[in-house]
Amino acid sequence: MEYSAKVMEHFTNPHNVGEIPDADGIGEIGNAKCGDIMKMYLKIENDVVVDVKFKTYGCASAIATSSIATDMIKGQPISEVLKLTNKAVVEALDGLPAVKIHCSVLAEQAVKAALADYYKRQGIDPEPIVGKIEDHDHDACHI
Ligand code: FES
Repeated sequence: MEYSAKVMEHFTNPHNVGEIPDADGIGEIGNAKCGDIMKMYLKIENDVVVDVKFKTYGCASAIATSSIATDMIKGQPISEVLKLTNKAVVEALDGLPAVKIHCSVLAEQAVKAALADYYKRQGIDPEPIVGKIEDHDHDACHI
């Protein structure tokens, strides 16, 4: 399997790894089947994501996509963060092997889950804003 230089760079030296103890929203997406879990922490001020950290227990693609996704949303208003797609993440990584595309969905979904948590904490129903959080299809990336 061939990974781009960008994937290798983010996998070996991931950005924004860790936790935010006083996060305003935390999202966790995972699948018991392959054991991959991604946890995303957001610090939000005036509708802007001022800080973001993540922890991923997963494959190289999952780590590289979460790393680049955090770079892409840091400092962005929520309206822009909501537009983050796994496609944009994959493009920013100069592509992923076809069988690994599904791993990138984990990053998009973890960000959305963290935003959903942020709204829930304020008593706001997140679904009309963030949409439905889909479960990552792990069967597709274990080939
Ligand atoms: Fe499960 Fe990539 S995230 S194998």
